[in-house]
Amino acid sequence: MNTKFTKLNITSEFEVYESEKDLSQEDNQLIKKAKEALKNAHAPYSNFFVGAAVLLENGEIVLGNNQENAAYPSGLCAERVAIFSASANFNSIPVKTIAISCKSAQTIIEGPVTPCGACRQVIAEYETKYNKPIRIIMQGETGNVYAANSINALLPLMFNHKYLK
Ligand code: THU
Repeated sequence: MNTKFTKLNITSEFEVYESEKDLSQEDNQLIKKAKEALKNAHAPYSNFFVGAAVLLENGEIVLGNNQENAAYPSGLCAERVAIFSASANFNSIPVKTIAISCKSAQTIIEGPVTPCGACRQVIAEYETKYNKPIRIIMQGETGNVYAANSINALLPLMFNHKYLK
């Protein structure tokens, strides 16, 4: 047996809410905006509609939704549409929170939708850009709502700018 290693255990912490009603007023309003935003998703291929709402430090809210394409890889997730738009339009205003909600035309989504790997990496980039943690609120159609206070919870051991010096 190889014993020439130690083990690194990484834990992540999430707040678990039984209902969006239990969120703070600020978070609750933001998740409602995400839910509204998913109605404008362009998702004719997956029929999976995702909405994202980004709250900036100045109170501005920027919405996004998934935008699909007949050439599948040309589409983009709701989280990246929202956070890129926020950075493009409010370049110097830090991101405070991103809320994500979803709905499927095929099935009921039980429990929270969690951002894909690429979106996690992008959210991480904006924590770096503004040097502030970003709160992430995740909701499905039924079940618990999860919240995390930094992308660290979703993307441990991430690749970041520190490798590029
Ligand atoms: N999608 C998102 O917009 N966000 C996620 O967190 C997961 C997936 C989109 C991409 C695609 O349009 C559809 O959901 C199915 O993958």
